[in-house]
Amino acid sequence: MSDKPESKFPPRAPLLPPRSPLEASTRKPLAPLPPLRAGTPAPRPAAAPLRPSVPAPAAPRTTAPLRSPAPTAVAGAAARARINEVLGKVDSSGREFAFTSADFERVRALIYKHAGIALSPIKQDMVYSRLARRLRARGENRFSDYLDALERSNDAKEWEEFVNALTTNLTSFFREAHHFDSLATVLRGFDPKRTVKIWCCAASTGEEPYSLAITACEAYNSMTPPVQIIATDLDTNVLKHGEQGVYGMDRVERLQRDRLQKFFLKGTGEHAGKVRVRPELQRLLSFRRLNLLEPAWPVQGPFDAIFCRNVMIYFDKPTQYTILKRFVPLLRPEGLMYAGHSENFMHAADLFRSLGRTVYARADHRA
Ligand SMILES: C[S@@+](CC[C@H](N)C(=O)[O-])C[C@H]1O[C@@H](n2cnc3c(N)ncnc32)[C@H](O)[C@@H]1O
Repeated sequence: MSDKPESKFPPRAPLLPPRSPLEASTRKPLAPLPPLRAGTPAPRPAAAPLRPSVPAPAAPRTTAPLRSPAPTAVAGAAARARINEVLGKVDSSGREFAFTSADFERVRALIYKHAGIALSPIKQDMVYSRLARRLRARGENRFSDYLDALERSNDAKEWEEFVNALTTNLTSFFREAHHFDSLATVLRGFDPKRTVKIWCCAASTGEEPYSLAITACEAYNSMTPPVQIIATDLDTNVLKHGEQGVYGMDRVERLQRDRLQKFFLKGTGEHAGKVRVRPELQRLLSFRRLNLLEPAWPVQGPFDAIFCRNVMIYFDKPTQYTILKRFVPLLRPEGLMYAGHSENFMHAADLFRSLGRTVYARADHRA
């Protein structure tokens, strides 16, 4: 088997324009993985559940102590803080950086303003552990100094790091599988000569849009279905991961064996223990950065489906409403909008009506 293009879609443009020479130089393409050899057994599905890509936040704390450790204690405290960070925990006695409740409120206000993310007041420890590495990288000792510098400098790269650090990117292949069954049924009803457009607007590390691509291949019984998938996210790190399409075995262990064999390549050598999505799937997708809060969205409708799953939960209702209102003209009148399992848009009934199981139709369209 070969990785040579055979798609009808034009060659894929790079994901994101390089922001700096450093970034450009570090974004080398991955060496292609050799395909699964005929007769090579696919990895067995294991019983263990998929691990979330982001550690769960630690239990809520009520105090945020400030400490000025004695010089002899510094090394030990720093080591403890690093261990805690690796474990996803924050130990109040081992805090490396000064972090007050006022700092936390400041972070909440900034991330709300820039990304629409309404951080719960109990996420203080999560904020500490996510941003501590930025302070370490920049040699800051106090959150207030870091935030001062961030706000003063207008440094786009640091703002990007700040936002990336605070997003939660939990996702998986075929998460909420009934949505993909629904989409397959819809796709099978379309004229196969028409190109279908799907927007996945909080694509995270790519598992969701690749699941859409697999669904399309299966619905059309072709590795080159007439489908274009636009995968967007605010977080530039997850977009890079998605564009590379390389995943640890643990991310695909729950996939059906025939899907794994048909749509993934198994890594060997330095890629041992990993898989990469087949290039045919990658050709159906284009990744780009899009902040749902920003006035300009670099996507063009009309879309047959918008997958907007498990991102609206981070926004308050007025923000959700504003975004939903902007979805309406981007979705075909008969198009469908898919939301996450814990999201409901009853407050936007003038825009979208529920078809059940978190699938929505435009309110102004009756089938
Ligand atoms: C929990 S993940 C959901 C991933 C996927 N949709 C799913 O359901 O599995 C939420 C994603 O929303 C993205 N996100 C958060 N705020 C955003 C914004 N203002 N604009 C675009 N994406 C945003 C995050 O970066 C993150 O990758």
